[in-house]
Amino acid sequence: MSLPVLKTERLTLRPLTLEDADRVRALVGDYDVSKMLSVVPHPYSREDAVWWINQTAAFDDDGERAFAIDDGSGLIGAVSVGRAGPEPDFGYWLGKPYWGRGLMSEAAHAVLTWHFGESPETTVTSGALNENPASLNVLRKLGFDDPHAILLSIRARGEDLPATKFRLTLDAFQAEEPVLS
Ligand SMILES: CC(C)(COP(=O)(O)OP(=O)(O)OC[C@H]1O[C@@H](n2cnc3c(N)ncnc32)[C@H](O)[C@@H]1OP(=O)(O)O)[C@@H](O)C(=O)NCCC(=O)NCCS
Repeated sequence: MSLPVLKTERLTLRPLTLEDADRVRALVGDYDVSKMLSVVPHPYSREDAVWWINQTAAFDDDGERAFAIDDGSGLIGAVSVGRAGPEPDFGYWLGKPYWGRGLMSEAAHAVLTWHFGESPETTVTSGALNENPASLNVLRKLGFDDPHAILLSIRARGEDLPATKFRLTLDAFQAEEPVLS
């Protein structure tokens, strides 16, 4: 089995390949991106990018089910619904030059539509730092609910920081209007 290719109005969501490694390194290597993500080191090397891409290719064998977000120029970010299971963890990042255009809302909606089509009975979990309003807004617009306070370990900073964790069911996702831009 392989991950599908998903199309939205402006984007293609596709499996990652090793050809994406340089762009992953450049975009995730930006501290403004990595400082919001839990497991990403900083500085971020090309070897880190290759390791991450390789484990997404092994998603059938307990790897992460991650899609490259491609705007036609190449990879600009990624969305992941984590490992298969009853409560997969949803994560995402976008390169800084691409922020603020509704692209993550569009990409995330497409990936969750695919995920719930495959696994309607699952509850998707996700969390964001309280200092990250853009990410909290992405989650809220998708229908994530049931907030509870946690401390999120941020590897790039070597700190545990206040964050909020949420859950999303198919019913809650379907109750939201599709976000296309
Ligand atoms: C979080 C992130 C994915 C958002 O991507 P994006 O494409 O800029 O998000 P969108 O444009 O879809 O915006 C989503 C919502 O957040 C709002 N928003 C965007 N930036 C914001 C900001 N700095 N402050 C407050 N709200 C903001 C948008 O207005 C939008 O809400 P609206 O439609 O009601 O106006 C992106 O900033 C990113 O990758 N950051 C670094 C990595 C990261 O934080 N990943 C998530 C970890 S939990």
